[in-house]
Amino acid sequence: MAATATSSRNYSVPDWVTSKRLIDWVMSVADHCEPEDICWCDGSQEEYDRLCQQMVDAGTFIKLNPAKRPNSYLARSDPNDVARVEDRTFICSVSKKDAGPTNNWMDPIEMKKVMLKHYKGCMRGRTMYVVPFSMGPLGSTIAHIGVELTDSPYVVVNMRIMTRMGKKVLDVLGNGKFVRCLHSVGAPLEPGQQDIPWPCSDVKFITHFPEERLIWSYGSGYGGNALLGKKCFALRIASTMARDQGWLAEHMLILGVEKPDGEKTYVAAAFPSACGKTNFAMIIPPAGFEGWKVTTVGDDIAWIKPGADGKLYAINPEAGFFGVAPGTSYDSNPNAMDSIRENTIFTNVALTDDGDVWWEGMTKEAPGHLIDWRGEDWTPDCGRPSSHPNSRFTAPASQCPSIDPNWENPEGVPISAFIFGGRRKTTVPLVYQSFNWSFGVYLAATIGSETTAAAAGAVGQVRRDPFAMLPFCGYHMADYFNHWLEMGRKLPDPPRIFCVNWFRQDDNGKYLWPGYSQNMRVLQWVIDRSRGRAEAIESPLGWMPRYSSLNWDGMEGFCRDDFHDLMAVDSQMWKREILGHSELFEKLYDKLPKEFLFMKELTLSAVWRSPETWKLESFNS
Ligand code: OXD
Ligand code: MN
Repeated sequence: MAATATSSRNYSVPDWVTSKRLIDWVMSVADHCEPEDICWCDGSQEEYDRLCQQMVDAGTFIKLNPAKRPNSYLARSDPNDVARVEDRTFICSVSKKDAGPTNNWMDPIEMKKVMLKHYKGCMRGRTMYVVPFSMGPLGSTIAHIGVELTDSPYVVVNMRIMTRMGKKVLDVLGNGKFVRCLHSVGAPLEPGQQDIPWPCSDVKFITHFPEERLIWSYGSGYGGNALLGKKCFALRIASTMARDQGWLAEHMLILGVEKPDGEKTYVAAAFPSACGKTNFAMIIPPAGFEGWKVTTVGDDIAWIKPGADGKLYAINPEAGFFGVAPGTSYDSNPNAMDSIRENTIFTNVALTDDGDVWWEGMTKEAPGHLIDWRGEDWTPDCGRPSSHPNSRFTAPASQCPSIDPNWENPEGVPISAFIFGGRRKTTVPLVYQSFNWSFGVYLAATIGSETTAAAAGAVGQVRRDPFAMLPFCGYHMADYFNHWLEMGRKLPDPPRIFCVNWFRQDDNGKYLWPGYSQNMRVLQWVIDRSRGRAEAIESPLGWMPRYSSLNWDGMEGFCRDDFHDLMAVDSQMWKREILGHSELFEKLYDKLPKEFLFMKELTLSAVWRSPETWKLESFNS
């Protein structure tokens, strides 16, 4: 280790850190935040184990029973720090117009003034960790490098699972540029002050400076607020990089479908938070699909760039899954359950009496006694959930049995279709295909979904969530639509675009579609359509499968009429739906693609069959 004179304190720098750009930035941050010391993370197993043990000693981590859940830990957060804080998330572009009306904005100079006051001395008594990470396979031309400075060892160990992290990243970086990510839990320790298991602050800021490719996060230690490679970099900052450089950074899973004859097709799919993206990414084909295989490239984020052959190629920039635990079971997602058998960090789930974890929906019957996510005794009749609805697992993607052989291919995988979905009790049919790319962009832009627990705030209200990117787009949402339209113009044969809704219910609140592995039936039609071979009927909203176009082998008790109900387009509901589109468009009016207004009118006239319902049955299908 060489001492450095760059900082007023005598922090040292290991020999393997050579980037002056990096050292200068680290020292300037240290000068301001005043950590006790600096730890340059090399990404080794030894370092990971040491930090985990340190957190066990501090009460942040509970080591799970190694016989049940080897090398795994449980963390319980502060009850006020359990989800992304969208109302404290800011896009501080130089011009307010660039952030657009759907993002919180503050002038970057003003924001920095405010945050620098909070950052002053905020790491006192703590270690500042330097975490170099690559989003995407090291050295891939689609990948990008960032460095996170954080005072949270919980963040370091999660980042080691979620990204390629450590010394090897600096070897690739050389003296090149990187996205600078600064994070503090905002809880300095006075001399002699006892630390607490989950330090955080009541004041929270999740702040992005897109022109500088800079992220400043303060006050939270949880998930997307703190693991800055994920939502902050791979979506908000990367979406602005993608706009400037002609590619796409998307809130999408990527999966591969292999037919029994070996034909392989990749699709990318966007769903709002906690709508079952991880389940769909790891879907196991049901009975009736013997010989079919689905493989997982990623479950949350896709970076997609045009290749020299005019196709779009996608990588998963992440290396792990940060999945919602409740509802995950061997019934709903066996691949996820196998991915989290070991080497996993659990946050805000319940602890069993034999040192394992449990959450609502993991097994049909709840254990007789648990310690809940707040550390309190729990019994099935106590009237409270044992796990927080946004409780999570952090697990290496390499542990997933369905991981795709190409998931680390630096070239990415070719995308043939995009699927967009939301969580809708009513109105939206099971599946339909856009007539063309531009209309597909319109459909994706107007997707609505009922809100979930992944973000703080009310749950269950329909909000427009264009491309599932509303909380994650780093610039004006209408400029984003224009970017998508422009990308389509440049592609000789763009991927086909589909919409799905797994969540439609009848008037009694019963789901009309079983979902989960049965979604494979829809996926097969998507694959076939994207390869130009399945039949379809023209509906007011796009192309729809006939009942006879889907494979029903192995699915009992679901008849033609059920399918027609699931696919119905109710004109009154759609008129209301399109009013919802208008509300979004009014907000974005100054930059809205003009073709959207025509597409809206065309869709309105297509569904205008008052008071009728458009149904597939009239096609004798
Ligand atoms: C997530 C989210 O955590 O979308 O992936 O909120
Ligand atoms: Mn997500």
